[in-house]
Amino acid sequence: MSSAPRVPNTPPNERSKVTLPRLAEMKRLGEPIAMVTAYDYPSAQVVEEAGADLVLVGDSGAMTVLGHDSTVPVGMDEMLMLAAAVRRGLKTPFLVGDMPFGSYEASNEGAVANAQRFIKEAGCDAVKLERGGASVDRARAIIRAGIPVMGHVGLTPQTATALGGYKAQGRTGERASQIAEDAFALQAVGCFAVVFEAVPAAVTEAIMPSMEVPVIGIGAGAGADGQVLVFHDLLGIHTGHTARFVKRYAAIHDEMVAGVSNYVADVRERRFPEESHTYSIDPDELSAFADYLDQDTLAGKSKWDW
Ligand code: KIV
Repeated sequence: MSSAPRVPNTPPNERSKVTLPRLAEMKRLGEPIAMVTAYDYPSAQVVEEAGADLVLVGDSGAMTVLGHDSTVPVGMDEMLMLAAAVRRGLKTPFLVGDMPFGSYEASNEGAVANAQRFIKEAGCDAVKLERGGASVDRARAIIRAGIPVMGHVGLTPQTATALGGYKAQGRTGERASQIAEDAFALQAVGCFAVVFEAVPAAVTEAIMPSMEVPVIGIGAGAGADGQVLVFHDLLGIHTGHTARFVKRYAAIHDEMVAGVSNYVADVRERRFPEESHTYSIDPDELSAFADYLDQDTLAGKSKWDW
């Protein structure tokens, strides 16, 4: 098993592929796991080059790339299209497809069938589903069908309404115990990792000694085995409100607006295109073309006759 460090800007052929044993090894060795979302070919290329370990095609794509105001409306076909595009841009990180709301709750059979689509049609390595409770049964069924599953507890955006909105979870002893029980149950049925979202850092730290599989935190403090952030949040691709747990590493939206504004201004002021952006034609060929345009047959025709 390789424990070669995955550093940014290393050519992909010199980077080792992340596997489930490698993720387990990282947990054992205490090496932080870097996970990030991606939703299309260019974002996949970026996270590949940046050396991420785990990539999630999150149902957050419903909001970040499809413009919905929650993750609920996105369906299987849309998620598969996004995941397949990410697959084409990704070589070495471990790729997880997020099962959308409505794709796994009703039955184990339905959950397995949709999980298989992520593997067969989009080329994902694993799937993720939200919550404990009935989702534990679904996770067990999918794992028994041979597909690795990542769990997700704490703030589970697909059922945010039932949780009282997008806010931190586990802030009472009882609610924290529920999160711990969900995480233990998901671990017990064989999930290879569990995401903890919007959970007090102290609650994560208290649960960690009982977690044998990697815990990936998002707003769950520094005690988790790894961290995940949404691509558009960390790069500042969208503007507006972001959760407390988001750290912005760039202001890409502003850079994109500045770039397109410069282009629009150049077109309006006739500064674009320049000579270097145009194609040439041999002068003799141009003169032959001019002769063609001057023919009598052409001269008598209006452009509508064609
Ligand atoms: O959909 C998503 O992006 C997620 C991560 C925030 C964990 O579920």
